[in-house]
Amino acid sequence: MRQKIKAIIPCDILQTEPLGTKPNCPLKFDLIVSHACVAEACRNQEEYQSAWYNIATLLKCNGILVYIDVLGETKYIVGEATFATLPIEVPFISKSLRNAGFEILKSEEVRYGSQDGKILSDADRFLCIVARKK
Ligand SMILES: C[S@@+](CC[C@H](N)C(=O)[O-])C[C@H]1O[C@@H](n2cnc3c(N)ncnc32)[C@H](O)[C@@H]1O
Repeated sequence: MRQKIKAIIPCDILQTEPLGTKPNCPLKFDLIVSHACVAEACRNQEEYQSAWYNIATLLKCNGILVYIDVLGETKYIVGEATFATLPIEVPFISKSLRNAGFEILKSEEVRYGSQDGKILSDADRFLCIVARKK
């Protein structure tokens, strides 16, 4: 797997060009996988919608998005630090993806159990979506 990785590129999904404008950067990808990064980056619903417009620019037409995010979460904890999350639910997520030009192929809500007794998040559900860029 490591041998297949060609580069690690910083990404800011709040920017209209999330990968910046550096040369030698692939402009569009066949597949984007995002796990717990979009709601976590956004402070409000407008920013969340814009983030999807920005992310969509990185995907080729017919490219596939695999998106997993936590539902209804307002915060999560890493070590001593607490981070805020935008609480999102399925209808709003679906609408945001469709507005940004995605066709949702599969969507599944999953409930998860205890986090080994540690409180890492105030949520207990996540959503898995597979979508195609039109
Ligand atoms: C809850 S962590 C998830 C990390 C990892 N994807 C995982 O599932 O373990 C949230 C991640 O969102 C990233 N993030 C926060 N703001 C971002 C932004 N504006 N653009 C891209 N990623 C961002 C953070 O760097 C952090 O790695």
